[in-house]
Amino acid sequence: MNIHIMKDTDLIAKEASRHFIEVLENKENPVLGLATGSSPIGMYNYLIKAFEAGQISFKNVTTFNLDEYVGIRYDHPQSYYTFMNEHLFKHVDIVNKNINLPKGDANAIADYQKLLDENVRDIQILGIGSNGHIAFNEPGTSFDQTTFQVELDEGTREDNKRFFSDISEVPTHAITMGLKDVMNSKKIVLIAIGASKAEAIYKMIKEEATPDLPASILKSHPNVEIYLDEEAASLLIN
Ligand code: F6R
Repeated sequence: MNIHIMKDTDLIAKEASRHFIEVLENKENPVLGLATGSSPIGMYNYLIKAFEAGQISFKNVTTFNLDEYVGIRYDHPQSYYTFMNEHLFKHVDIVNKNINLPKGDANAIADYQKLLDENVRDIQILGIGSNGHIAFNEPGTSFDQTTFQVELDEGTREDNKRFFSDISEVPTHAITMGLKDVMNSKKIVLIAIGASKAEAIYKMIKEEATPDLPASILKSHPNVEIYLDEEAASLLIN
């Protein structure tokens, strides 16, 4: 794991975007693994800028998102499809049919798994939950897990209620890539910002890999870049 600790969150976004830009510039048909949440938004902004400057194109890009809520329509304001459209897709020249998110429907799991198995990601962006989840693999998930329907931890629903008017509106379930799928990427870039991530980051880096801290699986991936602000890194520094 290469660990980068930076004061400036804008610099984190910029540095993280460089890994994606490198793939987009060098691969003929890049396959990107994408995430929602607050962590990657700044990075997506840098990708949009690079597109607007003519440096990169998404014409031949295929994307796979980590997860989607169950029980809300894809065009719901808080669906992960809407999030991706607002923060990236509508600003670039990506072809609609090349955009893949799990459908928020348990029957569609096998279809998504097939696509994931056929399309190894060149690069995957990740955030991390305050409980150490990556994608929606909550603590206790097997390292061999593939795509599945997960019941979200109460803490995760609490963390995400800021996007809804009330906790009762936050979906209880999601379809998510499993940990095994997340690892099926040639490179992984993880961004963690803020004090709420400090404990999970400390455990991921300093302690042994365990399903109790799902992000610790990344220790066994050969090509991971971790970007932390000083708050997320605070327990490592002190
Ligand atoms: C998002 C996802 C989640 C988030 C994590 C951190 O697609 O799978 O694992 O990356 O919950 O969320 P933020 O970035 O909002 O702190």
